[in-house]
Amino acid sequence: MKVVAGRRSAVLASRVAETLRAELALSEFRHFPDGELYTRVLDDVVGEDVLIIQSTPTDTDFICLLQLIDACEGARRISVVIPYFGYARQDRRFEKGEAITARALARTIDADEIFTINIHNERVMQYFTPPVKNLDAGALIGGYIKGLNLQDPLVLAPDGGAKALAEGVASSGRMEWDWLRKNRIDADKVVIEEKSLDVSGRDVIIVDDIISSGGTIIEAAKVLRQNGAGRIYAGCVHGVFVRNALLRLNRAKISVFSTDTIESIVSSVSVAGLIGDALL
Ligand code: R5P
Repeated sequence: MKVVAGRRSAVLASRVAETLRAELALSEFRHFPDGELYTRVLDDVVGEDVLIIQSTPTDTDFICLLQLIDACEGARRISVVIPYFGYARQDRRFEKGEAITARALARTIDADEIFTINIHNERVMQYFTPPVKNLDAGALIGGYIKGLNLQDPLVLAPDGGAKALAEGVASSGRMEWDWLRKNRIDADKVVIEEKSLDVSGRDVIIVDDIISSGGTIIEAAKVLRQNGAGRIYAGCVHGVFVRNALLRLNRAKISVFSTDTIESIVSSVSVAGLIGDALL
C-alpha cells in the first residue's frame, strides 16, 4: 500500500505509513498566481492500493483532497481518510433555502472506502456514496489523560453533544464524568448554564469533539472555577483553533491538547494507530 499525504496531514500520514509499514508517496502542492491550488502525486500509483490522508478544515484543503483522489486515477483501490471533515457542522437545513453543505461536499468524494474520525454528527455519514466508517479517538484521549497523573480527575462535556465522547474518554481511563448544558447565541457566543459540580480541589478535563473559537471551553471553565475546581484542561479531537483561540485559552489558564487530525503545536495525541488498526 502507498500512503499519499495531503497538504494538511503530512505528519499524520507519515505516522500512519510507519504504523502500516507502508511506503509514503511524495506529493507536491503550490499555488498558481491567481490562487488556484496545484497538486501532484510524484510517485506512480497505477495498479497500487492507495491510502489518501487529508483533513479538510479549509476550502482549499477540500480541493486538495479532490485533486489527490483524481491524481491517483489508475490505482487498484483508493481508501480515503478524512481525519477532520470540515463543514460537518452544516449537516442540516435550519432555514429554508440553506445549503446542507456537509451533504454537498460528501457527494463529491469518489473512493472505494472512506474513514472519518469523530465526525461532528454521524448523520453526515449517510451523505457519502462509498462505504464510510467513523473512528473514535475517545480511548486515545482517555489514555493520554491517564498519563497526566491528575488529582482525582473529572471528565466534563461542555454540552449535550459532547456527552458520548466524555463518557468514552472517562470509561477508557476509569474516571468520573459529568456534563453541562450549552445554549449557542451565535457563531461566536455561547452561554453555559450554571451547575453545582463535585469538583472542589479536583482536576477537570473538558472534552469536546471540536475547539474552534474556544468560547465553549472558556465558558465551561467559568462554571468550574465557581465550583472550586483545581487545574483545568481542555482536550479535543479536532483542534480548529480559529483566530486567537489558543491565546484566549492560555490566558484563561486552561491547558489545551488535541489529536493530530488537525496538526498543530498542541497535537499531543496521535490518531495514527487508530487509522492503522482500521486498515489492517
Ligand atoms: C459544537 O457543537 C461543537 O461540538 C463544539 O462545541 C463547538 O464547535 C466549539 O466551538 P467553539 O470553540 O467556537 O465554542
